[in-house]
Amino acid sequence: MDVAGLDEAQARDELARLARVLGRANTAYYQQDRPEITDAEYDRLKRRNAEIEARFPWLKRADSPSDQVGAPVAEGFAKVKHAVPMLSLGNAFDDADVVAFEERVARYLGMERPLEFTAEPKIDGLSLSLRYEGGELVQAATRGDGETGENVTANARMINDVPQRLQGAPEVLEVRGEVYMRHADFAALNAAQEAKGAKPFANPRNAAAGSLRQLDARITKARPLAFFAYAWGELSEPLSETQMGAIERLKALGFSTNPLTKLCNGAEALIDHYRDIEEQRATLGYDIDGVVYKVNDLGLQRRLGFRSTTPRWAIAHKFPAETAHTWLEKIEIQVGRTGALSPVARLTPVTVGGVVVSNATLHNEDYIKGRDSKGNPIREGRDIREGDWVEVYRAGDVIPKVRDVDVSKRGPDSVPYEFPTVCPECGSPAVREEGDSVARCTGGMICPAQAVEKLKHFVSRGAFDIEGLGKKQIEAFFKDEQLFIREPADIFTLEQRDAQNLAKLKNRDGWGEKSAEKLFAAINERRKIPLNRLIFGLGIRHVGDSTANLLATHYGSWQAFEAAMDAAAPHAGEAWEDLLSIDGVGEVMARALVDTFHTPETRRAIDKLAAHLDVQDVKAADTSGSPVAGKTVVFTGTLEQMTRAEAKARAEALGAKVSGSVSKKTDIVVAGPGAGSKAKKAQELGVEIMSESDWLALIGDA
Ligand code: IVH
Repeated sequence: MDVAGLDEAQARDELARLARVLGRANTAYYQQDRPEITDAEYDRLKRRNAEIEARFPWLKRADSPSDQVGAPVAEGFAKVKHAVPMLSLGNAFDDADVVAFEERVARYLGMERPLEFTAEPKIDGLSLSLRYEGGELVQAATRGDGETGENVTANARMINDVPQRLQGAPEVLEVRGEVYMRHADFAALNAAQEAKGAKPFANPRNAAAGSLRQLDARITKARPLAFFAYAWGELSEPLSETQMGAIERLKALGFSTNPLTKLCNGAEALIDHYRDIEEQRATLGYDIDGVVYKVNDLGLQRRLGFRSTTPRWAIAHKFPAETAHTWLEKIEIQVGRTGALSPVARLTPVTVGGVVVSNATLHNEDYIKGRDSKGNPIREGRDIREGDWVEVYRAGDVIPKVRDVDVSKRGPDSVPYEFPTVCPECGSPAVREEGDSVARCTGGMICPAQAVEKLKHFVSRGAFDIEGLGKKQIEAFFKDEQLFIREPADIFTLEQRDAQNLAKLKNRDGWGEKSAEKLFAAINERRKIPLNRLIFGLGIRHVGDSTANLLATHYGSWQAFEAAMDAAAPHAGEAWEDLLSIDGVGEVMARALVDTFHTPETRRAIDKLAAHLDVQDVKAADTSGSPVAGKTVVFTGTLEQMTRAEAKARAEALGAKVSGSVSKKTDIVVAGPGAGSKAKKAQELGVEIMSESDWLALIGDA
């Protein structure tokens, strides 16, 4: 019934019902990995609850769902910091990506293709790290965010494939692999769930996750979990010299390893094995979602190392996405943080690979028109219209996409979609620059959509990550005349304004005294912020989290960074060159950065924000004992024992800064054959010059 039509007694009952339903939905979602209702339904119920409370404030319950801020964290498991982080993998989606992967690896190592790799199924489960000391299983932990996971030791002991004791293992051995559930076991578990009136699991992955993360290990015991070992963390001695050898060693120690693991020489052989595995996929008896390729030689793996959260030496080749058909009801335009106008398809909800999808991306104007960025036809030139019958697909965690359209199902009054030429949010002209595939709103700071998206980005996980202040709260606070959060600095004045009764949080939209206090505490906690998070949080175009890391490492402190941006203004001169000397910072990115700091409104907003913060300088990685920590190094000429990329990555890992140009600030120039002007300049400036062998001897790697 409509909220307006409820009488007091009905409202009281309805609030009680909503508290129950939302409470259960929260538990199912956050603690049992088993969502019971869709996000949209959840939002609808929560809104209804708030509307009733607004009409009958005196009926608001002590356990009102409105007072629950953000996502309750699953409590009950102790946290475990991984001795070696648990990383994720980069993805390849087609054969060309696999060839490019091999080329990239070969280029980095300065070796010829083909290279030797292992190829094995990518198990669709959840990763687990098992720590053995003196051959005894002492700890099991989930991946968590990669740095810190949950201690699930008692549960892991219940898994048949997890040995409790090992013979002849290294003193310290962390075995990593995937916990999964076989199809047959999954079907039996779901039958049992239904028989006892419990909700069935959506898929084997959810069932495995829900079973492993049980606070009561007896429940885990009753659930048939399996485990494949495929990697390792901390080791007191190496397992082998090769990936394949290490897997065989793990097998000999008593772990299950995947029988489809195979040595392959070169990208073509990898792709052959991928096809083989793909053919067997349906008969394996467990879910896999791709094939993982790893450089076989562990010495080469070590040389290749990592790029932020993924290894350079491995990649996951995903199986093609799952698809479904549905009606495209409406095309809506979303305005992003940098003003980009993105078309979104509102769909009649449909299940795609086990997930209900009601929105999908349409990429950009050209995509809707059936053209690629070069003007060539895609989908044989078929355009996409409102009211069309479309094919939707999703691969892994990525946003669903509309792939194709069935024009035969088009009605007589169907018309081509007209892409807007003004921003639907602020009415400013939307302009598509030469060579850009997207139209952008030119409203800048006056565009509320851009402002709100910038704020959402500001509080996002890789940036300020303020607990209890997520996208939903930002939207509400942004619209709220009194709370008035229009730019990042406003977040940090909220508590003070609340105290002065200028912006009372309590009693609005479900906020109570306790939740408000919790939020203020979470905000205050973030006044101290690492430099890279601040830079990322500013939401500057082209500056993602890895670039933010590069900038933070290069400049070291907020003061130095800000001064450099000021000095780099004319897009010339020493500061500008210094910015461009950072590997990974190109001209376009440098311009975006410098322009941001020199646009008066944005600069004012940044200064206002910085005044509330205590920005943490970059803590150099533990490079104590590194002879080159803090030194600025330039590599020039031909390097013979390693590639440029490798030289750079290794120098940086040892705490050195690698620059592309020689200046007074340069400490060492490593000059190989053919070194020209840079070596000459070094000589003039009296900078130390050494050969590649000298350098390797210096860093202890000759
Ligand atoms: S290797 C440093 N091998 O995929 C690389 N991962 O997308 C460590 N996964 O978090 C991972 N099967 O949970 C590797 N054969 C396999 C895998 C596998 C499944 C999962 C794992 C990882 C995720 C990365």
